[in-house]
Amino acid sequence: MDHTLPRRHSDLMETSGQGPDRTPTVSTAATASTPEGFQTLVRSEFAPRTTYLNSASTGLLPDRAVRAMHQATLSVAHGSPEDMFADVEAARATFARLVGVAPSRVAAGASVAVYSGLIAASLPAGAEVLTAEGDFSSTVNPFHVRGDLKVRAVPLERIAESVRPDTALVAVSAVQSADGRVADLPALRAAVRAHGAKLYLDASQATGWLDVAEHIADVDYLTSVAFKWLTCPRGVAFFVVPEGPDGYEAVPSLLAGWVAGERPWDSCYGPITELARSARRFDESPSLFAYAGARHSLAVIEELGVAAIRTHDLALADRFRAGLATLGHEPVPSPGSPIVSVPGLGVRQPELSAAGIEVSDRAGNLRAAFHLYNTESDVDRLLEGLRSS
Ligand SMILES: Cc1ncc(COP(=O)(O)O)c(C=O)c1O
Repeated sequence: MDHTLPRRHSDLMETSGQGPDRTPTVSTAATASTPEGFQTLVRSEFAPRTTYLNSASTGLLPDRAVRAMHQATLSVAHGSPEDMFADVEAARATFARLVGVAPSRVAAGASVAVYSGLIAASLPAGAEVLTAEGDFSSTVNPFHVRGDLKVRAVPLERIAESVRPDTALVAVSAVQSADGRVADLPALRAAVRAHGAKLYLDASQATGWLDVAEHIADVDYLTSVAFKWLTCPRGVAFFVVPEGPDGYEAVPSLLAGWVAGERPWDSCYGPITELARSARRFDESPSLFAYAGARHSLAVIEELGVAAIRTHDLALADRFRAGLATLGHEPVPSPGSPIVSVPGLGVRQPELSAAGIEVSDRAGNLRAAFHLYNTESDVDRLLEGLRSS
């Protein structure tokens, strides 16, 4: 059995097991400060073989993450496991920089629903939780499951004006999964501050293209999966809590296992004598192979720069909106979003997929998502696919 590491994931598919290089590429310099540098870095990391416009569902993995995961699995197969806990710390640190907080405020886990559940557990019985109608279930369902909270749902456009003096928490996605609508974060901030409520933001459809750091001071709790716009493998999610003991002690550490100890390797048996004095007390036992890749995926996002990614993504989404208008189709209004959702066209998804164009069918809507590895030609191919029937 040849377990050597292929150079690129395209090689992995074609010539599995070939190639001498065992070291994942780690970029040494910020190469993406110009549009040419952006494109060079993107083309060296991503080589989609379809017209892939489905990052709102799952982002593509960069080459260096694929190589690092391959290397990590081999290290276990060969009996000399790499230190993948170091990868968790590197991923935590990069995510913290991307959203503008100290790493001590970031818990590393695997799913948003788990962290929504912890926030739900922090509320007193009878507390009112305000949500947006049709929001992603992992963001809102744990508040319903508690059974003794008053959960109210209003249209996203009315959520800020619907905060009341008895609202304890607003739980909402920064960007709606179903149709890409972006929450009005300044209005929400003003409303929650005016009424003494807390704000829980699920940034799963925002991190990687929206500058979350700009809004982080207005948010009490933030979660994000990393397998979409952050181009990480599945099995990686983050939870940001407020600074200091008042921040992390306000949420019960119901999930705390050994990794949540202040000294994890001394916390393996019996009750943990001291929980981490940071958000790490909310860590889930990490999916190590996923984190082995995630640290590299997050580095790619950081090197490209969220501002440049945003400009790139939004330009493509606007090109698609303009093309749709010429075809006589009207998308759900989602200005400033890289997700464009077109009512009634979801039925075209299987036929588009057969033609090599990947989009989603969400409740009858065709949802297209434009990200860093997409080009104007991708947009035009989708428009062409929609034109021909
Ligand atoms: C807004 C949003 N939140 C959360 C998730 C994922 O939630 P979980 O980690 O519970 O699977 C998704 C997509 O899968 C999403 O679109």
